[in-house]
Amino acid sequence: PRPIWLTRHGQSDYNRHGRIGGDPELSPAGEEYAKHLAEFVRKNAPRDQEVAVWTSTLRRTISTATKITRSPRTWRALDEIDAGVCDGMTYDQVRIEMPDVWAARSADKFRYRYPRGESYEDVIQRLDPVIIQLERQRSPTLVIAHQAVLRAIYAYLMDRPPSECPSISVPLHTVIQLTPTAYGCEEKRFALPP
Ligand code: G3H
Repeated sequence: PRPIWLTRHGQSDYNRHGRIGGDPELSPAGEEYAKHLAEFVRKNAPRDQEVAVWTSTLRRTISTATKITRSPRTWRALDEIDAGVCDGMTYDQVRIEMPDVWAARSADKFRYRYPRGESYEDVIQRLDPVIIQLERQRSPTLVIAHQAVLRAIYAYLMDRPPSECPSISVPLHTVIQLTPTAYGCEEKRFALPP
């Protein structure tokens, strides 16, 4: 059976400071994760099967892939939820400087659309082509993306209600392995390094 591996990019400079969005590079810890991830793929890829590596168009996912391939398939549809006017802010800044945004998002995180940005609902819509392709894949596929996007893909593959997306746990530096079976997907999680 071909595994689907879902992982967030390695830790970025923004993650370190709790900032949302942007196009930051990896932190030193994130670079380390890229190495561990490459080793994980080398060890766990089924023999004689080429692993497809998909990333977003953002630097932190492409850099996380470089130890595995120089030419991943990059999808704009895999880019992180667009935080619009809040892009680049910390959550504390949003809470203090834009209390109405904070309150509205807290009240309905699934449907709330950032001003000039997206909601989880929007993200699910734009992921359609990715999911169709993912279901057609014959080879093992490693998807290196972002928290909100991976929550949406995970919910779809695991048959969770879309509205649960915003609270699904997708930690950094963890590979979520989903193996399709007759009845859905079998899940295993690997925090790296072990
Ligand atoms: O920067 C965006 C985050 O990955 C999404 O997290 O929807 O929990 O704010 P959140």
